[in-house]
Amino acid sequence: MAKIALLPPEISQKIAAGEVIERPFSAVKELVENSLDADASSIRVDLQSGGKGLIRVQDDGGGMSREDALLAFERHSTSKIRQEDDLDHIATLGFRGEALASISSVSRLVLRTSDGGQKAVEVSREGERLLGVKDIAPARGTTVEVRDLFFNLPARLKFLKSDQSELAQVAKFLTSIACAFPGVAFSLSHGARELFSWPRVGTLRERLYQAYGKALIDRLMEVDHSEGPSRLHGFASRPPAGRADRSQQFFYVNRRPVKDRTLLAGLNQAFRPLLEKNLCAEAFLFLAHPLGEVDVNVHPAKSEVRFRDPQAVFRLVLRAVERAALGEGAVKPVVFGRPDAADGSSMKVEERAEARLFGDPFDPARTAEWSKDAFPKPATQEGDLRVLGQYLDMYIVAASEEGLFVIDQHNAHEKVLYEKYKEIKKERAWPRKMALIPLLMDLAPSEVLSLEANRALFEESGFRVEEAGGRTYALKEYPDILKDEEAKRIFLGLLGEVKGEKLGGREDKILATLACKTAVKAGEPLAQAKMEYLVQELFKLPQHSLCPHGRPVLLRIERGQVEHGLRRPSN
Ligand SMILES: Nc1ncnc2c1ncn2[C@@H]1O[C@H](COP(=O)(O)OP(=O)(O)O)[C@@H](O)[C@H]1O
Ligand SMILES: [Mg+2]
Repeated sequence: MAKIALLPPEISQKIAAGEVIERPFSAVKELVENSLDADASSIRVDLQSGGKGLIRVQDDGGGMSREDALLAFERHSTSKIRQEDDLDHIATLGFRGEALASISSVSRLVLRTSDGGQKAVEVSREGERLLGVKDIAPARGTTVEVRDLFFNLPARLKFLKSDQSELAQVAKFLTSIACAFPGVAFSLSHGARELFSWPRVGTLRERLYQAYGKALIDRLMEVDHSEGPSRLHGFASRPPAGRADRSQQFFYVNRRPVKDRTLLAGLNQAFRPLLEKNLCAEAFLFLAHPLGEVDVNVHPAKSEVRFRDPQAVFRLVLRAVERAALGEGAVKPVVFGRPDAADGSSMKVEERAEARLFGDPFDPARTAEWSKDAFPKPATQEGDLRVLGQYLDMYIVAASEEGLFVIDQHNAHEKVLYEKYKEIKKERAWPRKMALIPLLMDLAPSEVLSLEANRALFEESGFRVEEAGGRTYALKEYPDILKDEEAKRIFLGLLGEVKGEKLGGREDKILATLACKTAVKAGEPLAQAKMEYLVQELFKLPQHSLCPHGRPVLLRIERGQVEHGLRRPSN
């Protein structure tokens, strides 16, 4: 008997829907794209329960006739392309003709639309079934209400995250698409709460101001550079300004928000010589590119593209940023010497070590406390480990009878601090200090949500934040191992990065970040005593070969390898 059978359409449809609609955010994305393709000038999004209960997208665009409103739910039904050739020059956001079919197959959906005629139509569906079609009073544009997303796909339902976290994704998406369409008004509400409402504006700069506030604008530079038929324009960090995480890097190709390696690589490469090593650029960059030179039909969610000539795109980004930075006079002079000598800090090594206070193994006042109470006696299996010296101001070279160790000083210190911080955290609330002057921050909607979702966690980790009116928040207290200037940057970085459901994971992320930011850097010369202390602390740990980020801490060269290499028979 044949083992292979064609799937019934209901099942194949659900499988296909699962590719396009992964979570509430993907449904919002498809619906908002449809509104933009219909030339809406105002789009309102309302959610309930993070979009799991209700997603309503309302626009004032061109709408649909009764006939089209029914056809729109068929799979592969679209008004945006007609023939194969059209795929080579897609100027609309949608083109696959799958979104309405997919969303409606996994939800209870009501569509109300009018194309400006005498009547409007209302179509109700539940999963694959058409429940009803009726005429209603005309109103401009289209409203789609999606209730109970995945009600018939329990497996998918299980993978949805908390309301806050789904909402944050929607807020982030809307913010990014709103930047591509400043001439369209956008608003987002969750239950009774309005998260934002941005009227139409004339420029990207004004939209960025609405979405992020003045502080962002002040640390950006304008980018605008053309090469051949392509143009890259928008805004990126004005060096030395930057951000501790990559959460604010947005790329658009012909106004479509995309995730793209080529664009990202160009950005990273361009900023590498411009920013301190621990900083990333913020970017809102728009590539206008000939439609025939970019394939947008790469991914069911249309979030990736493929360029015919990625090298040319890479170069365009690189040059565009370089030129903008040159124009700003923001290019840093080349620094010779130590790899990390340009890390911006003009403090002397001793001062830096001083500045790292609590829980730092280099802090003599604390050393006794921590090695006495929190840790067992040193028990290295390496026997007598001796520090021979420092190599390239980055590595500590140590040796025992068993072999040689080349230890990455930053990764090792990070590992040691991370373990200590975990101990501290277990025992008490994180020691904190008050900011000397209130550290004001303008937060984007998704950052506000991240703050709200993680407030308790941040408090426990020493970060106390208060509302200061509108989107402005004040960092009032922060972990006492940080300094004023870095506290704000690190906190903003954490807001962008602390995601996901598991509390333990988010907690670890914070501790790992604190450890990373407070550890000695590569390029710092270390005194013998400090190296000895660090090595000793490192080898006390039960696991010492990987840092909290999973990078190797040390390289081990076995005695046998040395002897073999030097042709000396071992005894
Ligand atoms: N908000 C809207 N306003 C006007 N027309 C719409 C709207 N949403 C969907 N449509 C129509 O329904 C069609 C199918 O939509 P969709 O399934 O998203 O496919 P696609 O956007 O890829 O064409 C669209 O091509 C468009 O003609
Ligand atoms: Mg669409």
